[in-house]
Amino acid sequence: MKGEDGMTELLKTIKGRKSVRTFDGRPVSAEDREKLEQYIATITNPFGIPVRFVLLDAKEHGLSSPVLSGETLYAAGIVPKLPNADTAFGYAFEKLVLYAWSLGIGTTWIGGTMKRDVFERAAGLGEGEMMPCVSPLGYPAKKRSIKETMMRKGVGADTRQPAEKIFFDGEWDKPLPAEKQAAIGDLAEMVRWSPSAVNKQPWRVIVTDNGCHFYEKRDRGYSGEKTGDLQKIDVGIALCHFMMGMEEQGDNPCLAVDNPGLEVPENVEYIATVKK
Ligand SMILES: Cc1cc2nc3c(=O)[nH]c(=O)nc-3n(C[C@H](O)[C@H](O)[C@H](O)COP(=O)(O)O)c2cc1C
Repeated sequence: MKGEDGMTELLKTIKGRKSVRTFDGRPVSAEDREKLEQYIATITNPFGIPVRFVLLDAKEHGLSSPVLSGETLYAAGIVPKLPNADTAFGYAFEKLVLYAWSLGIGTTWIGGTMKRDVFERAAGLGEGEMMPCVSPLGYPAKKRSIKETMMRKGVGADTRQPAEKIFFDGEWDKPLPAEKQAAIGDLAEMVRWSPSAVNKQPWRVIVTDNGCHFYEKRDRGYSGEKTGDLQKIDVGIALCHFMMGMEEQGDNPCLAVDNPGLEVPENVEYIATVKK
């Protein structure tokens, strides 16, 4: 159902969410923490790969990030190193990010700006697992720090590419005609407004009669043994928004990793297909 502003609850949450790097220093209340923990216990992903969440007290474990201030709690996510693990991780962790925002709790995906070893030790990372990203959890301060404002400007955090650059009609780079664009409607907005590492927005979608095929348009320097491929995580986030959007519309989406073999440029990799 759409509100007076023409947006559904989910679209409002997705468009309203911003990374929060300046917190007011208040600890997350016992009530909110319990809600977060209860929600975490329900999080699944369509890849069927288990993603484990650990909540970590910042002071107790000596955790910090040079881009953050005032945070007292972190969530770390851990996933076994399996095919599609990065995408599954993105999907699952974004569910927590959106839920936290709906409670008034701010987050920032952190895949780079942290002392990784300290977080991995605190989170109890095991053999064969990776901890691609963490996030602070806390109440946003009234005013962003200067550092945060500069960071947002640097990556154009308040802007996204237009839908024509993301959704294609049957083949790479062919824009969807207006009627097909309109049919996707809110779902395109939900994908567009996904967060991504350095706001690179590497997701692309080719729409065919057989479903919506999601791809990663890769840039250099976003992949490592410890983080996995951060841009596959970004695509997992976009998939999460798209499938949650379909569910909100009353559809029952299903995801398959089944490459349709369409021709794409060299730096583009097929990830997964969503069908009704
Ligand atoms: C996988 C991933 C990794 C990220 N890593 C960092 C990071 O290490 N440090 C940071 O300050 N922001 C990080 N971000 C946040 C992005 O910079 C941010 O989402 C993007 O600029 C868009 O801004 P918004 O989230 O406010 O919409 C990351 C985001 C994603 C999705």
